[in-house]
Amino acid sequence: MRQIPMVDRVALAIRDLAVQFESEQGIVRALDGVSFDLHAGRTLGVVGESGCGKSVTARSILRLVDRPGRITAGRMLLDPATPDEIDLAALDPESRKMRDVRGGRIGLIFQEPMTALSVHYTVGNQIIEAVRQHSDISAAEARNRAIELLREVGIPRPETRIESYPFELSGGLRQRVGIAMALAGDPEIVIADEPTTALDVTTQAQILSLLQRLQQEKNIALMLITHDMGVIAEMADDVAVMYLGRVVEFAPVHEIFATPRHPYTRALLRAVPSILATPRQRLSTIGGAVPHPGSRPSGCPFHPRCPEQLGALCSEQVPKPVPAGRSGASCFKAEREHEAVA
Ligand SMILES: Nc1ncnc2c1ncn2[C@@H]1O[C@H](COP(=O)(O)OP(=O)(O)OP(=O)(O)O)[C@@H](O)[C@H]1O
Ligand SMILES: [Mg+2]
Repeated sequence: MRQIPMVDRVALAIRDLAVQFESEQGIVRALDGVSFDLHAGRTLGVVGESGCGKSVTARSILRLVDRPGRITAGRMLLDPATPDEIDLAALDPESRKMRDVRGGRIGLIFQEPMTALSVHYTVGNQIIEAVRQHSDISAAEARNRAIELLREVGIPRPETRIESYPFELSGGLRQRVGIAMALAGDPEIVIADEPTTALDVTTQAQILSLLQRLQQEKNIALMLITHDMGVIAEMADDVAVMYLGRVVEFAPVHEIFATPRHPYTRALLRAVPSILATPRQRLSTIGGAVPHPGSRPSGCPFHPRCPEQLGALCSEQVPKPVPAGRSGASCFKAEREHEAVA
């Protein structure tokens, strides 16, 4: 955790974003009114169980949600409240403007680096291509830039490695190349979707510290998606906890760990192995499974699994979403507790 930068600038403001997948089986509300801000020079950790909408959020920002998925409501404002404001939700995904944003202003790091890389070309050729897509420089300059990028992401002997094919590299080196690809357009925002899940623990720690260093050096607004509270503790400045297509809690990282407001956040924290736990103590898990977004429960979407639910209030009424830019939880119990304190 670090100090808030002197000049705090919102790079991207997501407001009330809703995404649906429509099929013959019905409508799946994958995102149901998501709001949050990404700040320059800060890391937003996005956490939640499988299926809660983390990847759909990332893909929506880059306008990579494929049919039958579509954005049905909301705005995604680059440079909000400035003369340069652009609403990404209003752009044609194939437009020139959106292609400039994708990879240029916003870089994406995938869980599996081969998603971004081709087996048929050397890593050098692929990075050079990515560099040239977003800047008007000569082939020789782009090659130097590619070598520089490989050096920045900690690849040894980049002048030689530039000629390697992805399959000649270890998983850790491949993910470093994936990060170099994401940085090729010199983006101000980077979205990393579970960037270390496929790696062993040691490599995972190295890649995370690389990401943190680059984020700080380049003042990047980083959105880091993970299901791992340990990664959140190491990396995040702010945290958005997602459940069934909603942000159910948002707060600076120290508040999330010290005073979690939402029973779901508390349950996620209980599921983290603790160094203080007695040996062989069972890891606490969250009771029940995440319902499919196609069969969303009435009321608060978490109420059927919530150990602290308040009966009819929680099963019949939907708690207010967390307003963007403020700490809070979308939960009736948390609202009452907050009122009691205030
Ligand atoms: N192509 C698709 N067609 C239909 N529904 C989809 C599609 N992609 C995603 N969804 C729905 O959106 C929901 C959110 O999916 P998403 O991939 O964002 O979850 P996630 O939080 O990234 O989970 P994980 O931790 O497993 O990666 C899923 O439960 C799924 O029902
Ligand atoms: Mg995902």
